[in-house]
Amino acid sequence: MRDQSITDDLLKGIPKAELHIHIEGSLEPELMFEIAGRNGVPLRYASVEEVRSAYHFTDLQSFLDLYYEGMKVLLNEQDFYDLTWAYLQKTSSQGVRHAEIFFDPQAHTGRGVAFETVIGGIRQALLDGERLLGVSSALIMCFLRHLSAESAMETLSQALPYREWIAGVGLDSSEVGHPPEGFKAVFDEAEKYGFRRVAHAGEEGPPEYIWQALDILQVARIDHGVRCMEDQKLLKRLREEQVPLTVCPLSNVRLRVFDSIQEHPLKRMLQEGLCVTINSDDPAYFGGYVADNYCTVRDWLRFTREDFQKVAGNSFRASFLGERRKRQLLSELETYFAS
Ligand code: ADE
Ligand code: ZN
Repeated sequence: MRDQSITDDLLKGIPKAELHIHIEGSLEPELMFEIAGRNGVPLRYASVEEVRSAYHFTDLQSFLDLYYEGMKVLLNEQDFYDLTWAYLQKTSSQGVRHAEIFFDPQAHTGRGVAFETVIGGIRQALLDGERLLGVSSALIMCFLRHLSAESAMETLSQALPYREWIAGVGLDSSEVGHPPEGFKAVFDEAEKYGFRRVAHAGEEGPPEYIWQALDILQVARIDHGVRCMEDQKLLKRLREEQVPLTVCPLSNVRLRVFDSIQEHPLKRMLQEGLCVTINSDDPAYFGGYVADNYCTVRDWLRFTREDFQKVAGNSFRASFLGERRKRQLLSELETYFAS
């Protein structure tokens, strides 16, 4: 039996950070239709309901195909602003006080949208989010691993004029067959410019990809990382170094990494002493924002108050926030659980 005192509102109210959210994956069908309409972009769906009913995935690639298709409506700076602003409003209502947000520039520049258009719209919404909602944020630019290392390097060059707006670089898209080692040069180059580094690894790919992300790309966090549970030596390393893992339970079930939420290893990962955080990944596609993921693990993985306090604390500790705001948010969290 779950603890009935852990209500949805209690979980929504927990001050938390979200560290694994692809902004393009927060494009809700309603906004997709609105933007498609004003941009004159044809959609192959007749209604919002039809879009939602298409969201049945068999694996990561089956999702990515729809994800890249959906974002084709985004053409103008206003579109990227509206997308980001909608996410910030929603996430703020779920207790998020700080968000570290991925974006996929190659998915836009590859269809003729300028880098400046993408980052300009996102950036303006982030500034408004800080001012009007009190949500601080950082941007993480991801390289698409199904594209070449040369394309990633070219994208890094395009980002340099906006260096001050981008906290770090990441690696996403189709994992299996695209190991981290292929992106060593661009991650080394990113380090020279002072970018933080993270990478998706061990979502569908083997534990070996997590080792490569740590040892070859020198990442500060692993995105997903759930397949670490298959490798005892890796578990020891992750525990000893307290490498943060940005886990996304609803995503993992929707993409069939696990057949059901009951089989998700998140609780065991916590019991192993790993530094896990809970995140939404692509909330418009997977049926929930960050607090919805918190509710799911309460319902199915028997998360306790202490577990939630730990993972929310981890979300701040694992963030790229400065020490002052980190301490302030950790103290807000302490107060929340003490009352
Ligand atoms: N891009 C958006 N969501 C992703 C995921 N879950 N894994 C890899 N790349 C992604
Ligand atoms: Zn992701």
